[in-house]
Amino acid sequence: MIALGCDHGGFSLMKEVIAYLDSKGYEYKNFGTYSEESCDYPDFAKKVANAVVSGECEKGILICGTGIGISITANKFKGIRCALCGDCFSAQATREHNDANILALGERVTGPGLAVKIVDTFLNTPFSNDERHIRRIEKIED
Ligand code: RB5
Repeated sequence: MIALGCDHGGFSLMKEVIAYLDSKGYEYKNFGTYSEESCDYPDFAKKVANAVVSGECEKGILICGTGIGISITANKFKGIRCALCGDCFSAQATREHNDANILALGERVTGPGLAVKIVDTFLNTPFSNDERHIRRIEKIED
């Protein structure tokens, strides 16, 4: 199950991401926002972060205008490793090296075609399970 959240600045890109998830048969829970009305990105980062930390969802996708505010907020939650990605190399590396559990995107930064490829890369790249990366993640948690 994938937790989804965005603010008004990410609402239209989230529709593209949802269309991609539907086309691939992914299960997701959409925590909103549900319109282009102005709202506060921390509210949605919190809902998605809590869903991932609790185990209700295994991964999350967060979108705001830049991806910055929503990723900063998500990373305040213990156990969350949220990576703001604007390219597929970073999306692959953050899964393999950081075991990132939330992907953040910026609608005003990354076009929908690339964004969907970033989502695909993020969801389909496993953690390396490499000892050195496990050690570094444990240090993040400490
Ligand atoms: C909203 O205007 C915008 O500030 C927000 O979507 C995000 O870019 C914040 O980091």
